[in-house]
Amino acid sequence: MTVVLLISGSTRSASTNSAALRTVRAIAPGGVETTWYDGLIDLPAFSPDDDGTGHPSVVALREQLSRADAVLLCTPEYAGTLPGSFKNLLDWTVGTGDLYEKPTAFLIVAAPGRGEGAAMTLTSVLGYVGADVDPQTCVRLPVARDAVGPDGWSPPPNSAPARSKRSNAWFGTRLASETAAANEALAVPV
Ligand SMILES: Cc1cc2nc3c(=O)[nH]c(=O)nc-3n(C[C@H](O)[C@H](O)[C@H](O)COP(=O)(O)O)c2cc1C
Repeated sequence: MTVVLLISGSTRSASTNSAALRTVRAIAPGGVETTWYDGLIDLPAFSPDDDGTGHPSVVALREQLSRADAVLLCTPEYAGTLPGSFKNLLDWTVGTGDLYEKPTAFLIVAAPGRGEGAAMTLTSVLGYVGADVDPQTCVRLPVARDAVGPDGWSPPPNSAPARSKRSNAWFGTRLASETAAANEALAVPV
């Protein structure tokens, strides 16, 4: 069983990034177990003075990272770069090398032409921490705000609020096909 830790860079309740990851979790193939990181908002601001002191939220993050065989990130762009809270999470991993040689990928769900700053910064930071990033696994898959249903999934357009299974099927198909197409043609390299 391969354990993939899903980390959303958004703390917004109706987040498009979290919706994309929830759907990934629902459509994960056999042999893949996903785990969900939900501690972003509780992480203290990084301080080198506290790096070895074992703050519970930091310990929990590191344990989840340690248990994961791979990590999938999905983050919005704020002010041309990563949200501060998400960069703060990444800063907590620098000294302890939690992402070093860890297979890591990311999705960008921003509209076409947006989110470039987040993708560039994330690529740079992941390179700095020595994560094992295959660029072909990092793809763009736009998810509009109004595509996120009340259940936190991305329902089919023009439908009544979808039940989770229908949402999963639709988004999963789209995710699979667009990811495959992106990988094949490298049409939307991040
Ligand atoms: C403080 C703030 C700054 C933002 N800055 C940018 C930006 O520089 N570039 C961009 O494309 N979108 C920017 N956005 C838009 C967000 O990336 C967009 O709303 C995204 O959907 C948020 O992700 P979420 O739905 O997962 O919360 C910004 C949003 C906020 C709240």
